[in-house]
Amino acid sequence: METIQTIMTRRSVRKFKKDPIPDDIIESMLQSARFAPSWANTQCWRFVLIKEDETKNKLSEAFPPRNPGLPSLLMAPLVVVAFAEKFKSGYYKGEASTDKGEYWYMFDVALSLQNMVLTAWDKGVGSVYLGLFDAKKIKEILEIPENYEVVAIVPFGYPDEEPKCPPRKDLKEIVYHEKFRMLEE
Ligand SMILES: Cc1cc2nc3c(=O)[nH]c(=O)nc-3n(C[C@H](O)[C@H](O)[C@H](O)COP(=O)(O)O)c2cc1C
Repeated sequence: METIQTIMTRRSVRKFKKDPIPDDIIESMLQSARFAPSWANTQCWRFVLIKEDETKNKLSEAFPPRNPGLPSLLMAPLVVVAFAEKFKSGYYKGEASTDKGEYWYMFDVALSLQNMVLTAWDKGVGSVYLGLFDAKKIKEILEIPENYEVVAIVPFGYPDEEPKCPPRKDLKEIVYHEKFRMLEE
C-alpha cells in the first residue's frame, strides 16, 4: 500500500479472526517499532508479546467491563503490551528537563507503536489501541519491575469486521495560521 493509503484506511478493529499472524509479519512490525524516533535516541520502549489464552484471560481482569475493546483482547492471536523504561526520555544529565517532566516516554512509545500498527495494517493485520485498564495490575501479572511503566495494550489480528471511520474534525477546527485564534461560535 502507499503510505498515505495505509494511514487513511487504518481503523480500530475490535473483532478478529482466529488465524495466527505469520512470524515474518510480526518481525517486520517489531523492526519498524525499533526505528521510530525517540528522545536523544534513548529508545525507552519495551514490548511483551502475548499469544497464550491463559495470559490474555489474566490480562482481561485488569480491564473494566465497559471498555469496548475488551473482547478484542481475548479474540486476538497476538497482544502487544507496550511499556517504557522510566527516567530516560525527557531527561538530561539525570534530570527531567522540560515542563513535561517524566512523561516524554508516552510520546516515544506512541511513535514506535504507531509504526507497528501501520506496518501491520499495510500487511492486512488490524489492531486497536487500548488505554483504559488498570496498569498497576498489568505490571503485576507480567512481572514488570518498578522502574517501568505500562503505556498501552494493542491486540493484533486479521479483521473480522469492517469498521466505519468515526467522524474527524475539519482542518479549520484544528489548524491555525501564524497564531492561535478562538473559533467563532
Ligand atoms: C491512546 C488511545 C487509547 C485508546 N483506548 C481505547 C480503549 O481502551 N478501548 C477501545 O475500545 N478503544 C480505544 N482506543 C481507540 C479509539 O477509540 C479510536 O482510535 C478512535 O475512536 C478513532 O477510531 P479509529 O482508530 O478507527 O480511527 C484508544 C485510542 C488511543 C489513541
